[in-house]
Amino acid sequence: MGNNLLKGKKGIIFGALDDQSIAWKVAEKVVEEGGEIVLTNAPVAMRFGAIKELGERLNAEIIPADATSNDDLENLLVKSEEILGGKMDFMLHSIGMSLNVRKKRAYNDSNYDFMHKTFDISAMSFHRLMQMAMKKDSMNEWGSIIGLTYIAAQRVFPDYGEMAESKSLLESFARSFGYHYAKAKNVRVNTISQSPTMTTAGSGVEGFQQFFDYSDRMSPLGNASAEACANYCVAMFSDLTRMVTMQNLYHDGGFSKMGMNPDVFGM
Ligand SMILES: NC(=O)c1ccc[n+]([C@@H]2O[C@H](COP(=O)([O-])OP(=O)(O)OC[C@H]3O[C@@H](n4cnc5c(N)ncnc54)[C@H](O)[C@@H]3O)[C@@H](O)[C@H]2O)c1
Repeated sequence: MGNNLLKGKKGIIFGALDDQSIAWKVAEKVVEEGGEIVLTNAPVAMRFGAIKELGERLNAEIIPADATSNDDLENLLVKSEEILGGKMDFMLHSIGMSLNVRKKRAYNDSNYDFMHKTFDISAMSFHRLMQMAMKKDSMNEWGSIIGLTYIAAQRVFPDYGEMAESKSLLESFARSFGYHYAKAKNVRVNTISQSPTMTTAGSGVEGFQQFFDYSDRMSPLGNASAEACANYCVAMFSDLTRMVTMQNLYHDGGFSKMGMNPDVFGM
C-alpha cells in the first residue's frame, strides 16, 4: 500500500527491460504511490516482450524510443503528453550500455567507435532528453528528473571500463543542465549513485558476483536493493524534495564513505 506521494503526477520511465531492472521496480513503486506513467525503452528491447506485461499490469502505455535519436525522443515527449493529458512531473533515465565492455575489449585496447556509441547511449542521451524536453516545454514547474549512476565515476573499478567515464559525464550533465532547468522552470535534476544490483546491465561487468559481494560487505548497511532505489526515486519525484538539485546522491548503504571494513576480511 502506498502513501499517494505521487498522486496527480505524471511521468516517463526509461529502461525497464525485465523484472530485475531498476526501472521496472521504479515503475511499480511510482504507480503504487499514485503516479501515472508512460514506459519507454529502445525498440530492440521490445522484442524481449517483458515490458508489455509490465505495461498491461500497470495500465501504462509503452512508446519505443532509442535514447540516441532526437526524433524518437521528440515523438515520445509529444505522445506522452497526449496520453497522460498533461506535461511531465518526473522522468527517470535508467539507461546504460558499454560496447567495449560487452565486446570484452580491454580498457587500454578500447575501440573508439564503440566508445562514442557508449557515451552517446549512456550519457549524451541524458542531455539530449533534457534539451528536447526543454524545447518542447514538456515538464511542469517543480518537476524532477533523475539519472542512475555508479561510484566508478569518482573511484577506479577496473572492470567497469568506459562506463566510468560515461557516468562522470552523466553526473556532470545533471549538474550543468540542473542549473539551466532550475532557472528556466524550477525543474530539479539529480543523479542517484546506486549500489551494485543484479540486473542485465550490472551482470555485464566481469566478475560481477565478487564485485557485488565485496560491496555488500564493505557497506555497513549492505548493498541497497533495486526496490530500495525505487523508494528513493519516489521520494525524489515527490514534493518533499523540491529544493534538491544538481546533486549526485549516494544510495549505497554507506559504501562511498568507507575506507576499510573488517567485514571484508571476515574479521
Ligand atoms: N545494476 C547495477 O549494478 C547498477 C548500479 C548503479 C547504476 N546502474 C545504472 O542503472 C541504470 C539501469 O540499469 P539496470 O542495472 O537496471 O540494467 P538494465 O539492463 O535492466 O537496464 C538498462 C536499460 O538501458 C536500456 N537501453 C540500452 N540502450 C538503449 C538505447 N539506445 N535507448 C534506450 N534505452 C536503452 C536497455 O534496454 C535497458 O532497459 C543504468 O544507467 C545503470 O548503469 C546500475
